Amino acid sequence: MKLTGNTILITGGGSGIGLAFAERFIKAGNQVIVCGRRENVLQQAGEKVPNLITRVCDLEIESERVALFDWVTANYPDVNVLVNNAGIQLRYNVLKANVRDNWSYFSKEITTNLEAACHLSMLFAPYFAAKEYAAIMNVTSGLAFTPFAIAPIYSATKAALHSFTISLRHQLSETAVEVIEVAPPAVNTDLGGAGLHTQGEPLEAFADGIFNDLSEGKQEIGYGTSKARLRMSRDEIDLYAEKMYQSTKNLIE
Ligand SMILES: NC(=O)c1ccc[n+]([C@@H]2O[C@H](COP(=O)([O-])OP(=O)(O)OC[C@H]3O[C@@H](n4cnc5c(N)ncnc54)[C@H](OP(=O)(O)O)[C@@H]3O)[C@@H](O)[C@H]2O)c1
Repeated sequence: MKLTGNTILITGGGSGIGLAFAERFIKAGNQVIVCGRRENVLQQAGEKVPNLITRVCDLEIESERVALFDWVTANYPDVNVLVNNAGIQLRYNVLKANVRDNWSYFSKEITTNLEAACHLSMLFAPYFAAKEYAAIMNVTSGLAFTPFAIAPIYSATKAALHSFTISLRHQLSETAVEVIEVAPPAVNTDLGGAGLHTQGEPLEAFADGIFNDLSEGKQEIGYGTSKARLRMSRDEIDLYAEKMYQSTKNLIE
């Protein structure tokens, strides 16, 4: 990826992985806009990272996604990189989920992790296709490849986003839009709530590793355990997923 001179929109860039990417992109000489639902989190991000541009937006809502596209392209017409990073994670026992009266609680994961990323990609792709250089980066997960059975819809959204990213790369292959997938392993952020990912990779080392691979032009990027999971055979995937389930199923009992 061209790592300097871009104007970059990072969804969910007020915290965690998105903010770590924003800091590195700004340091490398890019203009960066981040969005998220919580104004206070965006404000703190702006105080931590000079020159960060912030925008409140709830990507669960279709009209807010269109409004974000309109606002970014009107105010920052040089925008040429979209990072679909916003995501949520839910863990539950399907036998106790009680979805009859509560489906919207569960479907939020599909809307945020998958629908919003597809919608924004398809809003920005024609705009980017007219640029000299552009990129769409989708943040999936190692769990796109080895499903985490206690987060079943989460894992499914990431597998679907991985598939969408491949199709997008094919369709944009004759344009100057590079399509990149970053598939993190567990990383120590507040994803799913504080304290759920403390066993994950340290955030700063993870972000440095991803930037190193971006600078080498890689388009499908893992880190730590997800590097191997990206390329596992079906038998290896089954074994890995079984092991993960056996060691975590107590968390949803
Ligand atoms: N941490 C991990 O172990 C791990 C592993 C693999 C993949 N990932 C992926 O990495 C990405 C970033 O996650 P993270 O670990 O950095 O967690 P995080 O700190 O919780 O970041 C998620 C960001 O998404 C934003 N967001 C969530 N729902 C949104 C919505 N409806 N509209 C706008 N923004 C929304 C959140 O801000 P608001 O709450 O203020 O909206 C937050 O800034 C996610 O896609 C996640 O699935 C993480």
